[in-house]
Amino acid sequence: MSRKKHHAVSTAQKKRKALAAREKKARRRERRAASRTPAEVAQFLAKAGVVKQLPEAAWRKSLVDRFGSDGQKVIDQLHSDSDDDSTSDFYSAKAASLDLALAANSQCFGGHYEAFLSWMVRAGFHPSKCVLEVGCDIGVLTCFYAEHFPQAQVVGIDRCKKSIDCARQLAERLHLRNVQFHYADVRQLPEDLANQKFDLITSTCVACFMGHFWGGLSRCIEDTLARPIRPGILAYTKMLSSLLDDQRGKLITFEQFHDVDELAIWVRALNDAGVGVDCNMADFLEYKS
Ligand SMILES: C[S@@+](CC[C@H](N)C(=O)[O-])C[C@H]1O[C@@H](n2cnc3c(N)ncnc32)[C@H](O)[C@@H]1O
Repeated sequence: MSRKKHHAVSTAQKKRKALAAREKKARRRERRAASRTPAEVAQFLAKAGVVKQLPEAAWRKSLVDRFGSDGQKVIDQLHSDSDDDSTSDFYSAKAASLDLALAANSQCFGGHYEAFLSWMVRAGFHPSKCVLEVGCDIGVLTCFYAEHFPQAQVVGIDRCKKSIDCARQLAERLHLRNVQFHYADVRQLPEDLANQKFDLITSTCVACFMGHFWGGLSRCIEDTLARPIRPGILAYTKMLSSLLDDQRGKLITFEQFHDVDELAIWVRALNDAGVGVDCNMADFLEYKS
């Protein structure tokens, strides 16, 4: 009797163990699939000239070897205090030429491009008409949207004029006809842009770099749920909200926050601006940068 019971228990344990092992394997397979870069993303990045990241010292050396003092300026700017103005200096230094900008962006944003675009392709967005990228820098992501959504008109805006010049060159290199770039500050959009409506707006790594202008996202952590959001952040989310097509407009934001408090403030700022947040679509993306 007792041997039978023991046998029954050990069979059940074996079954449980086998099930757990199968589940673990399935989870591993899912993780592997999720971390794979879709072919269209890998092919586009290679075509655009985004190359693999190098070890830091080798990258610095190659930047100076290839681009001389312009390359050195980028390295100097990268390590200066990142307040609002010096951040702009970094963007303008690396946009001295498209090739320098691509070399710098491959190193600084290559992982981010791959992770974000892979996520976006998997999420399966299908904007029909107009796509806007706010803070498009040299237009790598914007050009991807133009290629990926050939039926859409794609617009990229950035407050750095040299970045916009590079973005236009990149679109030409890639023979893209459905993309335009505008030199504009999202805080003061020219009337024609401010009056347009977009199916899809993307704002990736823009709000998190606006810290000083907006009064410091980190410093906003003192904003509890009961307190009003800092007006600067709300002004930004309200601007994004006003540009969205009322019926079917979607906004994708991808930001680097230090902690969940910052994330919560961002979500609140979006909600308070009337942009409903779909928590089921929310994700954390891990990448090397
Ligand atoms: C970290 S980069 C991100 C670029 C691109 N979205 C990406 O994900 O690779 C931030 C960009 O936002 C731009 N930017 C920051 N504040 C802006 C503003 N007020 N109006 C327009 N562009 C802005 C910067 O010039 C810079 O090109």
